[in-house]
Amino acid sequence: MSVLVIGGGGREHAICVALAKSPKTGKLYCIPGNAGISQVAECVPSIGVMEFEKIAQFVAAHKDITMTVVAPDDPLAAGLVDYLEERGFRAFGPKANAAIIEGSKAFSKHLMTKYGIPTAEYREFTDYGEAAEYVKNAEYPLVVKADGLALGKGVIICQNVQEGEEAVREMMVDKKFKDAGNKIIVEEFLVGKEVSVLCFTDGQTIVPMVSSQDHKRAHDNDEGLNTGGMGTFSPSKVYTPQLADEVYRDIILPTMNAMNSEGRPFKGVLYFGLMITKKGAKVLEYNARFGDPETQVVLPRLKTDLYEIFDAIIDTRLSDIDIQWTDDACVCVILASGGYPESYKKGVPITIGKLPKDIVLYHAGTAFKDGQLVTSGGRVIGVTAKGKDIEEARKKAYDAIKNIHFDGMFYRHDIGIKL
Ligand code: AMP
Ligand code: GLY
Repeated sequence: MSVLVIGGGGREHAICVALAKSPKTGKLYCIPGNAGISQVAECVPSIGVMEFEKIAQFVAAHKDITMTVVAPDDPLAAGLVDYLEERGFRAFGPKANAAIIEGSKAFSKHLMTKYGIPTAEYREFTDYGEAAEYVKNAEYPLVVKADGLALGKGVIICQNVQEGEEAVREMMVDKKFKDAGNKIIVEEFLVGKEVSVLCFTDGQTIVPMVSSQDHKRAHDNDEGLNTGGMGTFSPSKVYTPQLADEVYRDIILPTMNAMNSEGRPFKGVLYFGLMITKKGAKVLEYNARFGDPETQVVLPRLKTDLYEIFDAIIDTRLSDIDIQWTDDACVCVILASGGYPESYKKGVPITIGKLPKDIVLYHAGTAFKDGQLVTSGGRVIGVTAKGKDIEEARKKAYDAIKNIHFDGMFYRHDIGIKL
């Protein structure tokens, strides 16, 4: 029973490593994959994640593939799972009509309002004049969001009227995020700690994974630009068992039920980006997939066979599976290319010295060039360690980083310090 994983970042590397541990997984394939993934899977760099026809041809040509796992947001939103299922192939992930929970922020805000799921107060605009007028008289800070997918960059936190007007203009007039900014959301700024809770769901049952926290800003002390995520740790200390129960009752279960009521059953991984405010947890965003780099600290703590979980979700029998986690901690520190999240060099040689056995390197942007490991993206490698607690895991990860080098390499020094 071979498995094809779609994607080529650190998250997909962590998924491949977890699948490779299953005695049920035969061969692993990854489209397009990366240098790290090629150590556990056969990678196909010539096919892109949006080339649905080529992907389906690949699955058809490899009769041993019994499951295709679609990990990234773009192919999910564009309906790769639907496309494969229509051709008789089994695929893991939500269909397009459910992936819209991430693909359209206006959709997710309507859903939460309709079903009483706690989230920030907001207004929606399709008209530039109305939006500009609104931000002139609003209270600050204020958050301006493009409706559609914008590579994680479509959220701007504005401190004053000038920044508010600029954000609205960039999205609606300058079309910085193309059509993703045709509609915008302007919402209340929430204060608190951010926690990520990823859940397995088959539309009937929804099972939260262990919690984690991401660090989105590029530099120490949450300075610098927003990025895809510079490091993560699991578990989150603020996400107490009592809070987890409340969130399950008031947010997680109601969201699964809401999607069913809307005729959009969600199967796959549903990610809840939460802000833990003084007035309780509120949803900042939904993602229709595993988070990156949250997956890199969550899956290493999974004791249950990931292949079996995916298989059960596809067949809508998740309630049969008892999902178990280790009670240790995990930390992942991202090594990034100088300049990220703006422009950066690619093809820079990477040297990796001897590392302790229990360090896992999840490759995000790496490739082989003439046999040499080189950088190929902004986020390059996630250095990941487990320990009895966050402090121990952190120390191991930072000690290991001393043995890894590439020109321009930078990373945050405070992953997992502010818990
Ligand atoms: P999103 O893509 O919606 O998760 O937004 C990206 C990041 O912007 C989040 O992880 C938060 O750090 C921040 N953010 C988004 N919405 C809000 C909000 N209403 N209040 C405060 N911070 C926010
Ligand atoms: N780490 C945030 C995300 O995957 O969207």
